Amino acid sequence: MRIIILLLLSMISFGSFADDGYRLWLKYDLIKNETLRKNYAQKLTTVSTNFSDETAKVTISEIQKATSGLLGFTSKTMTSASQANLVLKVGSIANKNAEAFEIISSKNQINITANTSKGVLYGVFELIRRMQTLASLENIKIASAPKIQLRMLNHWDNNNGTIERGYAGMSMWKWYELPERIDPRYIDYARANASIGINGTVLNNVNASARFITSEYLGKVKALADVFRPYGIKVFLSVNFASPKILGGLKTADPLDPEVKQWWKNKADEVYKLIPDFGGFVVKANSEGEPGPMDFGRTHKDGANMLAEAMAPHNGLIIWRAFVYNFDPKGDRFAAAYNEFKRFDGEFHANIIIQVKNGPIDFQVREPISPLFGAMEKTPVSMEFQLTQEYLGWATHWVYEAPMFEEVLKTDTYAKGQGSTVAKVIDGQLFKYPLTSMIGVANTGSDRNWTGHPMAQANWYTLGRMAWNHEITSAQIADEWVKMTFRTDAKSTETIKKLMLESREIYTNYTNPLGVHHVMGESHHFGPEPWVEKAPRPDWTALYYHRADSIGIGFDRTEKGSNSVAQYHLGLRNKYSDINTIQPEFLLWFHHAPWTHKLQNGKTVWDEMVTRYYEGVKSAENMQKDWASLKGKIDSETFENVEARLKTQLKEALWWRDASVVYFQKYSKMPVPSPYQKPTRTFEELKSLVDVYHVR
Ligand code: GCU
Repeated sequence: MRIIILLLLSMISFGSFADDGYRLWLKYDLIKNETLRKNYAQKLTTVSTNFSDETAKVTISEIQKATSGLLGFTSKTMTSASQANLVLKVGSIANKNAEAFEIISSKNQINITANTSKGVLYGVFELIRRMQTLASLENIKIASAPKIQLRMLNHWDNNNGTIERGYAGMSMWKWYELPERIDPRYIDYARANASIGINGTVLNNVNASARFITSEYLGKVKALADVFRPYGIKVFLSVNFASPKILGGLKTADPLDPEVKQWWKNKADEVYKLIPDFGGFVVKANSEGEPGPMDFGRTHKDGANMLAEAMAPHNGLIIWRAFVYNFDPKGDRFAAAYNEFKRFDGEFHANIIIQVKNGPIDFQVREPISPLFGAMEKTPVSMEFQLTQEYLGWATHWVYEAPMFEEVLKTDTYAKGQGSTVAKVIDGQLFKYPLTSMIGVANTGSDRNWTGHPMAQANWYTLGRMAWNHEITSAQIADEWVKMTFRTDAKSTETIKKLMLESREIYTNYTNPLGVHHVMGESHHFGPEPWVEKAPRPDWTALYYHRADSIGIGFDRTEKGSNSVAQYHLGLRNKYSDINTIQPEFLLWFHHAPWTHKLQNGKTVWDEMVTRYYEGVKSAENMQKDWASLKGKIDSETFENVEARLKTQLKEALWWRDASVVYFQKYSKMPVPSPYQKPTRTFEELKSLVDVYHVR
C-alpha cells in the first residue's frame, strides 16, 4: 500500500504518467526496491551546508528534488553539520582544482567536500547519479576532478529563432521575451548541464549576427548568464569579425587599425561591466564567407591577437576556430587548417585557444584526426565535436556518438613518441597547455524532449562525461545513461546498450563504408548524393572526395597524391600510407583503391563495399527487432517514438544503400556479389528521392 501511495505521489509530482523525455537523464522516479530506498534514506534525511551562496541554494534544491522523487521524502536542511546525514562543505581538499570534489561515506553520514561551492554541486550530482543507477552508498571514497577545464556546448542558434543544422525544433532562447521573462526551461537546461559537468555555453551560431553584441542583446545575454551562474556555467558569444563596421560604423574592421582595436576594447569593457564572469568570444573568420582579418590583408594571428588584447584585461578568452578552407584547385581541403595555423604556433596571445574539429573535413561519421592535434606545441588547441547529427542522419537515425569520440581521443598522434594520444593533447598533458577545452555543437532545441530523437540525449550526456574524464569508455557512459534514463530490468538495459554501441558502425556501413566520405546531399547534408559533381565550389561536391572512376575509388592523400598524410607525425603517417596495411575503415580517406584491390579479408574493395551497405541495412532491420523486445519494459511514449524513427531510419538506410550501389556500379562495372540482390530501383528514381524527402 505504501509503495502504491508513493508511486502515485511521484507520478503526481511529475505531472503525468507518460514520459515525454523532458526530464532527460535527471529522472527522479521512486526507487521500487524498498531496502535500497531505506538504506539511501538513512543517509539523506538531513543535509547541512557551510556555505550560503546562490550555488548552495540550487544544490539543496537539487537534493530535495532527488530525494522527494527517488525516495519519497524531502531531505531537511540542518544548520549544524553534526546533526546532518549529508554534509556539504566548502573546505580544502587535496586536489586544488576549483571544480574537484571528494565524497566520503561512513555508516550514517556522507561528506561531500570541495574547494568551492561549484565543486560541491558536482559532487552532489555524482551522488544522485549513484542513486539513480542504484549503486551502493556504503563506504564511498571518491576523489574526482575534471581533466579538461572548459567543457562547453556551442549552440548554432540565430537571433530569429532558427538553428543552423538543428533538428530538434527552434532555438530555446526566446530573445523576444528576454531579459524580462525567464523561461523555466533555462533552469532545467542549466541543471542538466551541471549534472554532467558542462561549465560553458556559447549561445549563438558561429556564423554570427553582429546583433548579439549590441547593447540591446547584451542585456538579454546578461539575464541568461545570471540564470546559469549558480550552476557554474559561463556564457560565451560568437562574434562577427566585421562588427566594428556593421555596428560601429567604422570604415574598416582591419585588426591593425587603431580605431578598430579601440572599438573592440570598448565592446569588451561594456560586456564585462554587465557580465563580470563572461567567458569570451568564439570566432569563425574567413571561413565559408564569414568576414575575417584576411579581408584586410592580415592573418588569423593578427585577428585573434587583436581581439585577445581587448579581452585580456578582463581575463576573457578568444576561441578562434581552425575550420578554414579556401578553395585551391590544386590543393586538398584536408590540408587547409594545418597549412593556415601550424606556421603561427607560438605566436598567439596567452588567452587564445585554437578550436579544431575532430577531423580535417567536417564531422563525417568517420574521419581520421585533424593533423593539428599534435602539431601545435605552443598554442592550446581544443576539441570541437558535433552533437547535432548534421551528417549523421539528422533526427531519424540513431547514432550514439560516444564510440566515435572515444576513437578520436584514443588515436595516437605520435607527437612525442608512442602514447601521445589526442586526449593527452587536448587535456594539456602533452604540451603543457595552460588552457584546455572540449566543446560539442549542441543538438538541443525547443522540442519537448530537447533533442528530437530521444536517444540523441545520450550524445549530449556523453560530451559532459567525456570532457570531465576522457578515460571513461563509451560502454560505461551508455550504462549510466541507460540506467538513469530508463531504469528498466537488466536484460532490457543490456539490449538498449547493445543498440547504442553498435549504432554508429551500422550507420557507417550503410552510408560511408571503407572511408567513403562527403557523399551526402549537397548543402542540406541529408541522404545520399554521391552523384553531385557540380556545386558553387568544387570542394562542396561529392566527386571531389570519392573520385570514383573506372579504375577505383577514394582520395589519394599519400605521397603519390595530395600528400596531406605528410601532415601527421611518422607513426600515424605510416599507419595510413600503406594501402595493404591501413585499417579498412580509413582506406578511401587516403587511397584511390582499385575496385579489384584485395583487402586483408580476401575480398575486393567493391565486394566489401557492397557487403557493408547490405549488412548495414540488415542491422538497421535488426535494430527494429531488438527495440520491439522492449515493448512494455520502458515507457510507451518513448518506446513508440523510437519505434517510429527506426522505421524511417530503415527506409533511409535502404535509400543510402541502393543509391550508393547503383551509382558506384556505373564506375566499377562489377556485379553485386551473392547472396545480395541487385537494387531494383533505377538511378533516376533514387536521385529523385531527395525531393520526396523535402530536404531541399
Ligand atoms: C559545416 C556546416 C555549417 C557550419 C560550419 C562550421 O560546414 O555545414 O553549417 O557553419 O560547418 O562549423 O562553421
